[in-house]
Amino acid sequence: MEHLLKLLDMTGEEIIDVLNLADQLKYETKHGIEHPHLKGKCLGMIFEKSSTRTRVSFEVGINQLGGYAVVLASEGSQIGRGEPVQDTARVLSRYVDGIMIRTFEQQEVEDLAKYGSVPVINGLTDFCHPCQVLADLMTIREFKGSFEGLKMCFIGDGNNMMNSLIVGGLKVGMAVSVACPEGYRPPQEILDFAKGYDCFELTDDPMQAAKNADVVITDVWTSMGQEEERQKREAAFKGYCVDRNIMAKAKPDAMVQHCLPAHRGEEITEEVFEQNAQYIFEEAENRLHAQKAVMVKTMAK
Ligand code: CP
Ligand code: NVA
Repeated sequence: MEHLLKLLDMTGEEIIDVLNLADQLKYETKHGIEHPHLKGKCLGMIFEKSSTRTRVSFEVGINQLGGYAVVLASEGSQIGRGEPVQDTARVLSRYVDGIMIRTFEQQEVEDLAKYGSVPVINGLTDFCHPCQVLADLMTIREFKGSFEGLKMCFIGDGNNMMNSLIVGGLKVGMAVSVACPEGYRPPQEILDFAKGYDCFELTDDPMQAAKNADVVITDVWTSMGQEEERQKREAAFKGYCVDRNIMAKAKPDAMVQHCLPAHRGEEITEEVFEQNAQYIFEEAENRLHAQKAVMVKTMAK
């Protein structure tokens, strides 16, 4: 695996391969078995948006693999002053062994990979959040045993999370249904991909999407960078809160996931969130293990 830019670039087998390694690394971490696959290697981390989980799990992860991290925030670096990504890519490639980037435009991540000469890992763009969804898939398999016969449902905005869940979910063999209001649907590129799967459903009715689901997932209605649209979005997403009524449509043993941070009372009720805390916080932990697997797959040569 050369980079992780988006799940669209991966085959289902490659995704399963990463999940298998993630499971193994989780086992080794829990049992104190050392796994210094990236001894002495440096991960450069670029943040043009805020982060708690991504920042900490990547830094702890590279350390557990025997390497170390250097963090670059857009504020205080030349990136924030407009230095072209083509130049940043070529400079950083001479210092570090891999780059994790969280930014707005997917094109910036693609360009970083194109102009640089080290592996690039997408830590979230407006288009997708592949690291999060690898952790989500890992968590689903951990609790449900396998992906076979499962239906995954996403309720909310056609954002980075919905995009990656559609692609990842379908590629590993789950049925995927998504509910979003008109005007907030996933981009055409994602819908074109999903069109090839009979087990994909797009609706504006959350109750319909949740019917017989094994996994129900949601995310914030206003993503980073969309703060000015908050009011408009709150109105558009009325009726899309994952609550006990929506959960009553899912299978009785359905699990809920949320990438966090969560806004209780908006996209999910306090009740549903807390009933599913064991899944949601395992999902957060699995960021660490899934990303370690991604770093090993891309950076260990
Ligand atoms: N879920 C997620 O990516 O969290 P952070 O924004 O805290 O990194
Ligand atoms: N959709 C959210 C995910 C945060 C992890 C955002 O982009 O802000």
